Amino acid sequence: MRDINQFTVTQAVKNSFKTEPGSRFETLLHGFIDHLHDFTREHHLTQQEWLGILNFLYDCGKISTPERHEFILLSDVVGFSALVDMVNSKGGATEGSNLGPFYLDAAPRKALGADLSDGREGVLVLVKGKVTDTLHNPLPGAIVDTWQADATGTYPIQEQEKGQDKYDLRGIFEADAEGRYYYTTVLPKPYTVPYDGPVGKLLRAGNRHAWRAAHLHYMVRAPGMNSIITEVFFENTEYIDNDAVFGVRKSLITKIVPAKPAHTEGLTLEKAPDAVCEFDFVLAPEG
Ligand code: BEZ
Ligand code: FE
Repeated sequence: MRDINQFTVTQAVKNSFKTEPGSRFETLLHGFIDHLHDFTREHHLTQQEWLGILNFLYDCGKISTPERHEFILLSDVVGFSALVDMVNSKGGATEGSNLGPFYLDAAPRKALGADLSDGREGVLVLVKGKVTDTLHNPLPGAIVDTWQADATGTYPIQEQEKGQDKYDLRGIFEADAEGRYYYTTVLPKPYTVPYDGPVGKLLRAGNRHAWRAAHLHYMVRAPGMNSIITEVFFENTEYIDNDAVFGVRKSLITKIVPAKPAHTEGLTLEKAPDAVCEFDFVLAPEG
């Protein structure tokens, strides 16, 4: 190891870890070392740049709390989270998209047709669709767990000190015998990801904005099927082509249309909607 140089150091570092040959851990660790070393050689990283990167990561750690995970936000804005979603999306199934930081795992169960808006101002939209498998068979009893921002782009969980209930604007629905789900809610607006920390500094350094296109979040599951975590976006809305966290996919965009009697026929709704958007979820078999 004494005659180590910039070309032999990579293998020496990999050899220094006594990992199980061929294990997933070894593959990922070696891959990470290879890419990090290649990046350094390729760009002839200076000591100042090296320290700048490490100090940036230090700042991300310093601002992080149990409620604020700056490293996830960093992963989001550099498209790392989106890429992980993309490589894990199953062919034929609904594409995955950001989980985001506002998911709560004990949202209230709601009956089909319930209204999630709780009297909040905004456009009342009927959200409806089907949950099916990749062969278009309905999945009765599928669970549709949803959460969203309000018509000002705020999640109730962000305004608990103003008296908002963190469980508002979210709900867990069970699809009916035909795999249908439907409910009304207020149409969400775009909002910014947090930009008062190191990630915000990075966005500003790159002349980027922090806005997310308006969206509804979903976690959909059914027995024997792969669960999906995704988002639904709306055609022709702001930031649809430059979402700050690269969450938008063509297949996840739906249209908002004015409500007509045909849209609500046969549905028992708590409130009469102004508009309608439809989105079907497709789950792939487990495995
Ligand atoms: C969200 O969609 O809720 C979100 C995603 C990434 C960063 C911040 C918020
Ligand atoms: Fe969100």
